[in-house]
Amino acid sequence: MSIEKSTLDISMKEISNFEISSIFSMESDSYPADEAASFDMLTYRHKEAPDLFLGGYMHGNLVGFICATRYHGKELTHESMNMHIPNGESVCIHSVVVKRNQRRKGIALQMLKLFIENVKSEQANVTGILLICKSNLIPLYTKAGFELVGKSHVVHGKDPWYELKISLT
Ligand SMILES: CC(C)(COP(=O)(O)OP(=O)(O)OC[C@H]1O[C@@H](n2cnc3c(N)ncnc32)[C@H](O)[C@@H]1OP(=O)(O)O)[C@@H](O)C(=O)NCCC(=O)NCCS
Repeated sequence: MSIEKSTLDISMKEISNFEISSIFSMESDSYPADEAASFDMLTYRHKEAPDLFLGGYMHGNLVGFICATRYHGKELTHESMNMHIPNGESVCIHSVVVKRNQRRKGIALQMLKLFIENVKSEQANVTGILLICKSNLIPLYTKAGFELVGKSHVVHGKDPWYELKISLT
């Protein structure tokens, strides 16, 4: 039986230290080896910006996550993936992941909507939410409210990346 997308009961909250191993497993299972964040990088992002590292839960079970850091520029750069500037004007999303056996039920879309609302209500002085993705996933992000900026300057792995943005000004 398929789950009606409109009845998905997804909630998001900050992950705990104990969940980083599960998050790392999901990250490694979801991105090619040259794109997946290392355990140390995920730990760094969680330590620096726990309020931007949110797990997605369905019936109390972790089914996905979104993690981001803040950055001082208006464009998502390679540098932004490796740092967090607490008062940076941009929220840069680095990972959007849903467990492999839970995909195409609308979970990522719901997580993105909740994440965006959380940034709007909890993060001060943010002018935009930025991310990069491959061409096939542009519709996921435009459905969540992002606008396509164009081809990104970031080189990360072998495919071209596209930058998308939600302006909050
Ligand atoms: C990308 C990912 C997060 C999508 O999660 P999901 O919960 O399956 O996505 P949703 O069910 O919310 O999809 C909503 C819409 O986004 C688009 N979409 C989602 N996954 C897609 C895919 N693999 N290819 C093309 N379009 C896709 C579709 O338009 C979909 O609507 P539809 O199912 O009615 O066609 C998930 O496949 C994943 O974790 N992938 C590995 C990590 C990754 O690549 N993350 C994105 C980094 S930019």
